[in-house]
Amino acid sequence: MSVSVIILAAGAGTRMRSSLPKVLHKICGQEMLSYSVQEALKISEDIHIILFFQHEKIRQHIECSFQDHLHKIFFHIQNHSKYPGTGGALMQNEQQKLIPLKHDQILILNGDMPLITKEELERFIGFKNPVALGVFELENPTGYGRVIIKDNQVKQIIEEKDATPPIKAIRTLNAGVYAFDKKFLETYLPKLTNTNAQKEYYLTDLIDLATKNKLEILPIFVNPKNFMGVNSKSELSKAQDIMLERLRNKAMDQGVIIHLPQTLYLEPSVTFEGECEIQPGVCISGKTKIINSLIKAYSVIESSVIEHSDIGPMAHIRPGCEISQSHIGNFVELKASKIKGAKAGHLSYLGDCEIGEGSNIGAGVITCNYDGKAKHKTLIGKNVFIGSDTQLVAPLEIESNVLIGSGTTMTKNAKEGDLVISRVRQENKNGGFYRFFNPNKK
Ligand code: UD1
Ligand code: CA
Repeated sequence: MSVSVIILAAGAGTRMRSSLPKVLHKICGQEMLSYSVQEALKISEDIHIILFFQHEKIRQHIECSFQDHLHKIFFHIQNHSKYPGTGGALMQNEQQKLIPLKHDQILILNGDMPLITKEELERFIGFKNPVALGVFELENPTGYGRVIIKDNQVKQIIEEKDATPPIKAIRTLNAGVYAFDKKFLETYLPKLTNTNAQKEYYLTDLIDLATKNKLEILPIFVNPKNFMGVNSKSELSKAQDIMLERLRNKAMDQGVIIHLPQTLYLEPSVTFEGECEIQPGVCISGKTKIINSLIKAYSVIESSVIEHSDIGPMAHIRPGCEISQSHIGNFVELKASKIKGAKAGHLSYLGDCEIGEGSNIGAGVITCNYDGKAKHKTLIGKNVFIGSDTQLVAPLEIESNVLIGSGTTMTKNAKEGDLVISRVRQENKNGGFYRFFNPNKK
């Protein structure tokens, strides 16, 4: 690992139209900048993140997400008022000098490219040219710098805002990834000027300076799917689509059956083991592990472990659940609960509870886990049969082999072998129907 990586994340991100810094917007539940740092860490131990707008918030986020790697990550605050722009981002306060870097080989990445992969970045390491530039071709080049290539050499990059109509028609584009020799940067960074439409120091003008000094610039053609820049909410959703396709393909390669894969939402922290099957419209997020299970249509699963079970359709498994050998049916909501070898087939809320083997939870059973001040637990033993429409007012403990009559409001613990019932006796009043609807009829 003899490359230093610089990630540019100091821009205002105005096109995002959001108070959240651009690089903290998420795709598949993970912040864009975290993807860049994650891939950079695979190729370097000298990573420099350039910040300015909301730098404290971004720094805090990175420090929190990469706690074990902080000795490899360095933060710099851009002098944005004096040196704005992607070129300005590399400069220290005085004389446009390059920020201090460990290695002679330098890879620069825009911070808004969450789809980059280690494999593509490795293509930028280890050749002799002082400058290499990532380029790709797109049908719609809007927003990207246009790249002029002659004799397999990059000659110039022209930013869209500075481009004439014929230049705008060029479809070879700057991907936003650059490999530089440190000496080149040290020599030419102080020579950058800001005489352009945006009055910024463009990193891309270094290419111009290199050609003027007869240096060869290597174009490296990359896959646009790995380097798309995210400037707006619509680009954010496009990038997420690409990430989702990768996550679904990875799951299918591992043997997961996915029906209508384009309708499945996944996050990188979700893992599968064994043989799993997922029906359409499912949303699985957070640190979720699914092992040998069937997830039926339109279920939502967040940060939980599901093993040898079937879930849904339309079930909601909220964070902190451990479900094994169980059947969870439609309109059942679970939260922070451990369920083993049990069934909850329909219309239930089961929160902060433990349910033992062989237990059956009837339709409409609710754990009343919150008293308005604190959450309480419900412990249910083995072979407990809970009749429909029962409320379990927590804290509550039900031992094994207990039968609870339907419609019970349970506020007291039950002992092994109990039948529990709390219900008003039924009364049938003969002729009551007619007295109510037609009092004149005898
Ligand atoms: C940039 C390139 C463009 C390329 C495109 C690829 C320049 C001048 N243009 O355009 O040629 O096709 O990326 O996606 O580089 N940033 C700073 N400090 C600043 C300004 C920006 O650190 O003063 C950071 C941003 O946070 C962002 C990155 O640099 O992560 C790129 O900036 P952005 O404004 O998105 O550049 P583009 O207009 O997309
Ligand atoms: Ca961009």
